[in-house]
Amino acid sequence: TKRIIVLISGSGSNLQALIDAIELGAINGDIVAVISNKPDVLGLERAERANIPTIVIDHRQFDGRASFEAELSKAINELKPDLIALAGFMRILNSEFVQPYEGKMLNIHPSLLPKYKGLHTHRRALENGDKEHGVSVHFVTAELDGGPVIAQRIVEVEDSDTEQSLQQKVQRQEHQLYPEVVARFCNDRLDYRDGKAFIDGKPIQ
Ligand code: GAR
Repeated sequence: TKRIIVLISGSGSNLQALIDAIELGAINGDIVAVISNKPDVLGLERAERANIPTIVIDHRQFDGRASFEAELSKAINELKPDLIALAGFMRILNSEFVQPYEGKMLNIHPSLLPKYKGLHTHRRALENGDKEHGVSVHFVTAELDGGPVIAQRIVEVEDSDTEQSLQQKVQRQEHQLYPEVVARFCNDRLDYRDGKAFIDGKPIQ
């Protein structure tokens, strides 16, 4: 059984999808802690409801990114996780922080990477008149939203779509995709070597 830490900053609907999948026996893992950089977010309540220990490391209480990240890695390392899953975690992480976790840190990002790294992905897809949009799960590397993609889901963009409707469509896909990818990781089917992602030993894309 893999030890999973989930990092959040907000509503935690992806965290909930992971909790639900674990309860159904679909993931060979346990969430040993949920860490949030924001106090009082819904995601923390979701964790508490599922009896998962929570840790708040409020970035505003630190006088810079380095000291925040030092506290965050201390908390993570004490828990000896096999997997760190970023789920709506909205702080940018330095390469010094990320490096020790390369190959065991995943992120879910609401765009078809390499398109639309960063923020406001739904708005940017609409502004560009994209017909397709979606979600990606990738290994986290030092490059923001730039690590190797493991899996994607596409959603069709309709003329009537708004930023909000698109977000809802994408999130429905996220809630299926992230548990699937985490399940594969926990079954040792995913690997990371030399900046590339592998499934069952074969390079992805
Ligand atoms: C999700 O849509 C996720 O893809 C996005 O934040 C949302 C969090 O929702 N992540 C990013 O934008 C990362 N840069 P949730 O808290 O309900 O899971």
